[in-house]
Amino acid sequence: MKNKILVTGGTGYIGSHTSVELIKEGFDVVIIDNLYNSEAEIIDRIHKITGVKPVLEVFDLCDQEKLDIFFKKYNDISAIIHFAAYKAVGESVNKPLEYYRNNLLSLVNVLDAMKRFGVSDLVFSSSCTVYGQPEKLPVTEDAPLQPATSPYGNTKQIGEAIIRDTTVSDKNIKAVSLRYFNPIGAHPSALIGELPRGVPENLVPYITQTAYGLRDELKVFGNDYDTPDGSCIRDYLHVVDLAKAHVVAVKRLIGRRNKTNYEVFNLGTGKGVSVLEAIKSFERVSGIKLKYKITGRRAGDIEKIWADPSFANKELAWKTLSSLDEAMKTAWDWEKNIRNKKG
Ligand code: UFG
Repeated sequence: MKNKILVTGGTGYIGSHTSVELIKEGFDVVIIDNLYNSEAEIIDRIHKITGVKPVLEVFDLCDQEKLDIFFKKYNDISAIIHFAAYKAVGESVNKPLEYYRNNLLSLVNVLDAMKRFGVSDLVFSSSCTVYGQPEKLPVTEDAPLQPATSPYGNTKQIGEAIIRDTTVSDKNIKAVSLRYFNPIGAHPSALIGELPRGVPENLVPYITQTAYGLRDELKVFGNDYDTPDGSCIRDYLHVVDLAKAHVVAVKRLIGRRNKTNYEVFNLGTGKGVSVLEAIKSFERVSGIKLKYKITGRRAGDIEKIWADPSFANKELAWKTLSSLDEAMKTAWDWEKNIRNKKG
């Protein structure tokens, strides 16, 4: 019998790519999503890619009664991948209570339901934001966490702590936190990808929307950082590579191959790329000269961070396979595809 995986936030950017990879690996996928930041149509797109239509249950995870009804209906869930969360760093500063309520209450409800309905395995969407500006680069999982610079970042730190404490108190619960660096790109089919609401906060959607003519020009937030070209450095990984890591993490938990009841993994390429290098990569794969200008720094930006992914490389036998150029190309293909359809 197939293992059934609950994917919360499964119609979102990383959730949809992970659902595709889970289905490809023979898992049954059931998605819970409130469609706050995504469309139900993504289910049809996942169907188009995989030939399988995952089940979608639309409700808010903050509603514990609905979650109970869900677990009574689906009493054969093997593991949960919990993506559902608000994720806009800037917005979180203006709406802290919304962020704390949504991101933390939903997580508490999921863990509570796991205990009561006997689901033992959880994979959690965390972020390299928990490290702040690390002293040593590349950053390893045992680096000290820094005070979060936004309510969003705080929900990831507190979320990790809630999960860790739950695994300590209840030996039946096993969990993995995956600390993502900067996911970019889209599925090679260009059927699913990132769909930011309004003006994008993140670099790559801003680049592709500028190239498509939806934005006048990209603002490069600072060229006076202590980096080789003065712009900030990040570790950009292809979202399909990231999605595959979730499948491996789920298999590890279901197969009881975890070493401790709570494990944390960095998911990145191990390579730092500057904003100006990312622009060059886009220009290379698209053949388009991008309009951009250097402006002042963005408040709260980390100067430079990239992963030491060796723990995930070794323990999960996972590593990124796609290059920056490949990831950029899929981001551009997706942008063109989605705009052509809408236009
Ligand atoms: N950047 C620009 N111009 C833009 C947008 C971004 O120059 O219009 C620069 C930023 O200054 C930064 C880099 O591009 O140097 C990447 O910025 P993103 O906003 O794409 O990503 P961040 O690294 O700032 O944030 C991401 C995720 C967060 C997560 C954080 C962890 O979006 O969810 O990584 O550090 F918390």
